[in-house]
Amino acid sequence: MKIILKDIKDLHKIDVYESNGGYSALQKALKEMKPEDVTNEVKSSNLRGRGGACFPTGLKWTFMPKTGDKPKYLCCNGDESEPGSFKDREIFEKNPHQFIEGVLLACYAMGINAAYVYIRGEYYTWINILQTAIDDAYKKGYIGKNILGTKFSTDIYIHRGAGAYICGEESALMNSIEGKRGYPRVKPPFPAAYGLWGCPTTINNIETLANIPEIIKNGAEWFSKIGAPKHPGTLLFGVSGHINKPGVYELPTGTPLMTIINDICGGVLGGKEIKMVIPGGSSMPPLTRDECLKANMDNESLKEFGSSIGTAGVMVMNEDTDILKVLIRIAKFYYHESCGQCTPCREGTGWLLRVLKRIDAGNGRMSDLDLLTSVAQNIEGNTICALGDAAAWPVKWTVKKFRKDFVNKIKDDVEVPVMNKVHSLR
Ligand SMILES: Cc1cc2nc3c(=O)[nH]c(=O)nc-3n(C[C@H](O)[C@H](O)[C@H](O)COP(=O)(O)O)c2cc1C
Ligand code: SF4
Repeated sequence: MKIILKDIKDLHKIDVYESNGGYSALQKALKEMKPEDVTNEVKSSNLRGRGGACFPTGLKWTFMPKTGDKPKYLCCNGDESEPGSFKDREIFEKNPHQFIEGVLLACYAMGINAAYVYIRGEYYTWINILQTAIDDAYKKGYIGKNILGTKFSTDIYIHRGAGAYICGEESALMNSIEGKRGYPRVKPPFPAAYGLWGCPTTINNIETLANIPEIIKNGAEWFSKIGAPKHPGTLLFGVSGHINKPGVYELPTGTPLMTIINDICGGVLGGKEIKMVIPGGSSMPPLTRDECLKANMDNESLKEFGSSIGTAGVMVMNEDTDILKVLIRIAKFYYHESCGQCTPCREGTGWLLRVLKRIDAGNGRMSDLDLLTSVAQNIEGNTICALGDAAAWPVKWTVKKFRKDFVNKIKDDVEVPVMNKVHSLR
């Protein structure tokens, strides 16, 4: 089942997109549906955001004010900087017009006249592809003033990121578009009340928006019956690591993880056993081999193992993997990307990294395992944005699930200095 990455040659070209039913959902909405009908259809479809948090999309759209004279904005989040996530660029490359049509439908539903597409700056090739698609859609009257002869007008602008992971967080993204430092904002106020330039704003992921045209074309009921009932539709799984055929695969939500690994991706590299799989980008808690055998890839199912679907970036690691080295790499990333506003995140990410490194260097103590958990727990839930959680979860859960790997690196249990007995950062 393919909703976005359809096997149609040259689908990125506007003529090919049109001849395959492209922009018919926009025509249908503008001619036959009121803006609130579009929102209701998305709400009934049960579509949940594909940017990591799985928030119900239709519900989010209802938060936008229906009255008031301030302009409203849509921010389309294509920052895609989480390690292991590389699925949005596939949409820009293979089906940019379906994303653009989704943007237009979202703007129509929420009464928005300007949308910003925030794209990871390194995605140079994909920025060019999307810009060409936007230019072509302007020429054909799908974007701009009085779209398809109606009163509805919307412009779409591309904004290039400059290499900061934190700018994918929705409020940092808005600050970045405003030309400010990419600092996350304290919430509330939420973006629907006070967003871009203080105006009502909705932020959605690229994949989320790319689903909208098919929902409007085929109906909410059709969509809600695909995949896992509580998290319906398809997901663009970006599979990487020790796997024979890495890549982006669109599959229904709830597909068993082992089907993805063995049937779709040709099995683990070198015929080895799995040691660990991170199911949804580097911030998601990992799965052990036994959990992989039981896991279905949708958000509700993964909760059973203390994990989540995140961005569906599946990272497969075989039996030879040094878990500690992997965790150090991940911890280093979050330490580096912390914007530094909150003490638990700014200081805690550094603590995590230092303690992990000393265990790896053979200078660890058994009490370090509790210390790691304690530091992670003191970051979690105590920060302005979710980068803190993203840094804490992999450490907390990897220590819990792969304790033996850590214990094996700890040679002697030496006396613990007083500083390490402090179990709170506050
Ligand atoms: C540190 C951090 C980085 C994020 N990066 C992205 C990103 O690159 N792309 C994205 O869509 N969402 C990202 N998010 C989530 C966004 O804040 C937001 O929830 C999402 O764009 C909403 O879209 P959705 O409801 O369609 O999923 C990030 C969140 C955090 C905390
Ligand atoms: S949690 Fe980290 S990244 Fe987020 S605002 Fe605080 S310091 Fe910045």
